[in-house]
Parts: sequence; structure tokens; C-alpha cells
Amino acid sequence: MAKKEISDLGNLQGKKVLVRVDFNVPQDGKGDISNDRRIRGALPTIRTLLEKGAAVVAMSHLGRPTGDPEKDAIFRMDKVAARLGELLGSPVRKADGVVGQQVKEAVAALQGGQVLVLENVRFHAGEQTSDLAFAAEIASLGDVYVNDAFGTCHRRDSTMLGVPAAMKGKPRVVGTLVAKELAILQQLLSHPPRPMLGILGGGKVSDKIKFIHALLERADKVLIGGAMTYTFLKAQGKNIGASRLEADKLELARELLQAGKGKIELPIDHLAVQKLDDSSTAREFTGEIPDGWIGVDIGPQTINRYTAEIAQAATIVWNGPVGKFEDEPYSKGTRAMAQAMASSKGITVVGGGETAEAVEEFGLAEKMKHVSTGGGAFLEYIEGKPFAALGEIEDK
Ligand code: 3PG
Repeated sequence: MAKKEISDLGNLQGKKVLVRVDFNVPQDGKGDISNDRRIRGALPTIRTLLEKGAAVVAMSHLGRPTGDPEKDAIFRMDKVAARLGELLGSPVRKADGVVGQQVKEAVAALQGGQVLVLENVRFHAGEQTSDLAFAAEIASLGDVYVNDAFGTCHRRDSTMLGVPAAMKGKPRVVGTLVAKELAILQQLLSHPPRPMLGILGGGKVSDKIKFIHALLERADKVLIGGAMTYTFLKAQGKNIGASRLEADKLELARELLQAGKGKIELPIDHLAVQKLDDSSTAREFTGEIPDGWIGVDIGPQTINRYTAEIAQAATIVWNGPVGKFEDEPYSKGTRAMAQAMASSKGITVVGGGETAEAVEEFGLAEKMKHVSTGGGAFLEYIEGKPFAALGEIEDK
């Protein structure tokens, strides 16, 4: 069932609109934002609400706070609020709490056209314990609820579920980002133009079992890359040298290879090193990887094969880098996948998290049909798991 959107809301003059965004952005060691894609992703919704005269209260988690104030200081929302202000072109207010008297007063003082960012909602234990009183207190701050946090839609956190549940009778809609993500992913699941190709990389087979099954069901072919390659190769009895291995997942890898017979393609050559931090030791190997060598990227023959597959596909879904792309000497394979997708005339969809970061780093994000802001949410949606959070949004 289609969900109500911002365009279904009338005039918002004088209304306080609670917007759950996903500002859980990657940070460096000092807490500086290393990629602001998720903040930029929420701009269309926030701008539209402000144009309609609303006072916007934005709320999000950031990272996984431990409850230790010293360690958690890095997860304060100040830098996020400042970046949002820069992107909007006008300063944004920031509350030092999530609930309580000061927050109430800050919201009451907020005028139409202004934005207030609440403190990290996970600083409050109630965010992840389905605390009804906490949800009700936040809910009381708003006249309207907007879910624009696609990246968190797979979570049952209070601001995703409890708050809209406590706002029954008030308008509760999805934002522009969530509406766009859902429209594209629904098309992928229901009637993807064929042939449909999946590209799957990343570290662990075990993280993506359900996703691999879902891709095998839907795609005509699935190309494997990244560190999970070596567990699959080992499962086939091949030598993988000192490459990363999930030794307890070999049986699972065999089962997946069997289930994907005729659909799964594994790399036929590899870039490997003797020392991870010394790229001068890098060499290419076809087939097996000799003892002592560590696979770090797909090799040139695999790049040729995979890019040819991408060129022929009408729909391409990519999740997980195919090599250790964060180290430039080992980034060729991942860059080649991104470039081939950027040149494709097909529907190109990139899953969030580090795949999205790679595509951005290569300056190719704008060339894709869609780069999801969801990491886990993207995987779970393709796996077919319903998002409970969307159950609290009004149907059209
Ligand atoms: C994400 O980055 O996947 C979302 O923001 C959810 O974060 P979480 O995995 O910490 O719940």
C-alpha cells in the first residue's frame, strides 16, 4: 500500500513538524563528518516543509553511544546541525537534549521556516527500549510526523515506531527521500528490466546470506567480489593463501554455490600482496592464490569479464566493494565496477554504506540511477523484510 507523502500535507503555517532523519553519518576519529550524503539526502524534505511554513524539529541517532559521556561526546549532534545549516544556507538551532523542559521550550520558541536539531536520540535509553513514556513525550512536541530516515527504517527505535504510534490522529507521512528509495526498490523487486545483474562484495558471506538468496531469486546473474570471494573459493577446494577466510562458513558457502549454480560467478584472477600495508609486494594471480599471499582485489581478467556483464545488463544492483578499495593501490576493481555502472544505460542501483562511499569517492554517484542511503535497510528491503516503522505511516 502506498504511503502518504509530504505532497499530501496541506499548509503547514504554524505547525511543528517532527522529522525523523538518518543523520548517522560516517565520522573520522575527531568526530568530523567524513561524508555528508545522508544529510544532503534529507534536504528536499526539510526545504519543502520550510517552504510550506513549518517549524522543523529534526531528530536522528548518530553512531552507537555506550552511555559513557566521555566516549559519547563524539556522537553529539552539533557538527551535524552545523553542516545542515551550511547546506540549507541558514543557521540551524541545536538542542542539548532529546526530551525535557529545555527541549519543550526550544520547540515552543521555534518559528515557521526555522529548524531545530535534537540531541542524539540514542543518548536516551528509551530510544532503543520501546519506552512508551519517552515516545509520548517526543510525540507531544509535534503536530505532524515525517519519516525520512530510510537508512533506519529496518530498526524499531522509538523515534521510528513509538513516536508515530503515539501520534495517531495526526498526519504521519514519509519524506521525499523515503518515497524515492521505496519507489526504486519496489520497481527492482517487482518488474526489473532484464537481464538483471547483482554484484556482491564486502567482507563476510555470513553478513549477507539472506541477501545473497534474495539476489539469486531475482537476478539472472550474480558476480562475487571482495573478501567473501576467498571463502567461496576455499569452499570449492581452491588455495587462497593467507586471504581472509570465514572458516566456519565453508559449508554455507558450498550450499550457496549449489543454490546459485549457473548464476554465481567468482573471480578468475586476483591481486594479492604479501603484506597488506606494503602495496609494492602486489602481484596478480590467475586461479588460485599461493601460500602466504593475501587477496586484496579482483584481477584484470575478472574486471574485463565483470564489466562486460555490466554493459549487457538492463538492471544492475551492487552491494559491497569488490576489493580493499579504501587503499588506493587495491581500488582498481571497485573503481572499474563503478565506472562500468556509470556508463550503463540500464537501471543502476548502489546499496548504501561503503559501496555508496566508494562511488562518491570516485565522483560517480551522480551517474547512477540511484545510490541508496540505506546500508542494513537496503539489504533488508531487498530480502523482503517488512519495515515495521512504515506501518505507523498513513496509507494513501
Ligand atoms: C545505518 O547506518 O545502517 C543506520 O543508521 C542504522 O544504524 P544502526 O545499525 O546503528 O541501527
